[in-house]
Amino acid sequence: MAIDGENIGNLKQQLAKLFEVSLKVTVPSEQDVEPLVAACTAKFGDYQCNNAMGLWSRIKGKGSEFRGPPSVGQAIMKNLPPSEMIESCSVAGPGFVNVIISKDWLAKKLTKMLIDGIDTWAPHLPIKRAVVDFSSPNIAKEMHVGHLRSTIIGDTLARMLEFSHVEVLRRNHVGDWGTQFGMLIEFLFEKFPNWEDVNEAAVGDLQAFYKASKQRFDSDPEFKERAQQAVVLLQGGDPKYRKAWAQICEISRNEFHMVYKRLGVHLEEKGESFYNPYIPGVLEALSGRGLIEDSQGARVIFFEDEKIPLIVVKSDGGYNYASTDLTALWFRLNEEKAEWIIYVTDVGQQQHFDMVFKAAKRADWLPADNSLYPKATHVGFGLVLGEDGKRFRTRNTEVVRLVDLLDEAKTRSKAALIGRDKAEGWTAEELEQTVEAVGYGAVKYADLKNNRLTNYTFNFDQMLSDKGNTAVYLLYAHARICSIIRKSGKDIEVLKKTEEIKLDHPDERVLGLHLLQFSEVVEEACSNLLPNVLCEYLYNLSEIFTKRFYSNCQVVSSAEETSRLLLCEATATVMRKCFYLLGIVPVYKI
Ligand code: ARG
Repeated sequence: MAIDGENIGNLKQQLAKLFEVSLKVTVPSEQDVEPLVAACTAKFGDYQCNNAMGLWSRIKGKGSEFRGPPSVGQAIMKNLPPSEMIESCSVAGPGFVNVIISKDWLAKKLTKMLIDGIDTWAPHLPIKRAVVDFSSPNIAKEMHVGHLRSTIIGDTLARMLEFSHVEVLRRNHVGDWGTQFGMLIEFLFEKFPNWEDVNEAAVGDLQAFYKASKQRFDSDPEFKERAQQAVVLLQGGDPKYRKAWAQICEISRNEFHMVYKRLGVHLEEKGESFYNPYIPGVLEALSGRGLIEDSQGARVIFFEDEKIPLIVVKSDGGYNYASTDLTALWFRLNEEKAEWIIYVTDVGQQQHFDMVFKAAKRADWLPADNSLYPKATHVGFGLVLGEDGKRFRTRNTEVVRLVDLLDEAKTRSKAALIGRDKAEGWTAEELEQTVEAVGYGAVKYADLKNNRLTNYTFNFDQMLSDKGNTAVYLLYAHARICSIIRKSGKDIEVLKKTEEIKLDHPDERVLGLHLLQFSEVVEEACSNLLPNVLCEYLYNLSEIFTKRFYSNCQVVSSAEETSRLLLCEATATVMRKCFYLLGIVPVYKI
């Protein structure tokens, strides 16, 4: 029986299927062996199956016909069902089975993708719906670079999951509830007697407003008293106080929105206040299971392996960050029926989420086994540092305003573009679109390319350089491919339908194989929630295209012109999908 692996997942999974068949035949007594297949860079093959050693240790001494791992490897190779995917196999060292993928098979898959579209390469994850809780700034407080990281990383994760057929609820869990609103509302009344008509233009900088009200709160006991009374009225649902609260939220929201609009990020707000009415019921259910106990006047959940408990009701009877997060998790699991709930915040909040997840496991909302769904995952990230190695700040003010930061990225990318004489003959609109794509793309890519857990240093010169692993370099590479196709004078849409790709040159084959690996890379980036895996893939793609294929294979006016133009188109298509998943707008001309 020939298995050509049609429609059963990505390259690696299709190969794994073939090995699964072989393993069952090779050692019939062991039916539950999972095939271990991995891409490799060794010169003997493209992929390797590493089951021989493990299998040998399971069967040795049980009277098997084999003499050691190498002979198990030989048998695994021999028993592989015939498939047009495989060019050749060999066994190396202690039984590693190396596979070389057929270039004709690769070429056929690429040609087909150009016709059917790259979405046919999207991975299938084992879940239907996920929540990505990201960005989530606090009302009236600063939206800082940490929130920018959360916004960029969260958006990419959401895009990757959406591409992989998962419905994503993109949640902005804004901090819109809490005792600070008492003071903000009183200050609003005091400063603006006509507060009902007040908008962001009148209030100006909401952060400064927050600071001034805090100062008033700390220095005037009479004001403090009123502010505390205001909290009670607000939480009791007094219409006037609710209205003032809504007003303050709206002003903040408009500020946040300016950043989201620039970044092209879409989010749906369900702030802390949304969960407030559900908190008592959820805590009651947890108490009913004996999870919550009294401690020094507060209500808490203790964990064996944690030094501090999770406080779920403060000693003054109020709710807090943890009560809200427990309730939001309950809501997302039970009401929204999400199977994977992903939280994107700085690593500093890891312990908080660890405790919330442990409580949920104890309550049987989540399975104890982390590999099973439903699942909750904290996606932590490191700090953004300035050139001085300290937290990123501007020279005069404390925190960097995100809008200013994005403006600067734009200004600098414009200067660089004009400096490189790239923009001659462009319309103003073309220039504007390109500097935005490059400037914002640079900020996003500089963040995403690092392993998110490490701190990263914010450096405009570096991120806007056209050399090295930067968005600028990648966007230029894409634009260059587009220009090769344009200058050929051929209609690529016609070629797609009438011609096919051939991968006869070794460098064409290397490029073709890398393109085919797109799907398994996205799947890995999704499963491990690591955008940098996709960035690395994209950078390598660009390097392979430029340094191997384009340096060694003449495209225009060669005998292989049509096939090579299609290969250029396939590369540009995969690059564009990578850009899309990273939230970067591609440019076609440079
Ligand atoms: N508002 C929080 C902050 O600024 C982040 C909220 C993250 N999400 C959550 N469900 N706790 O740090």
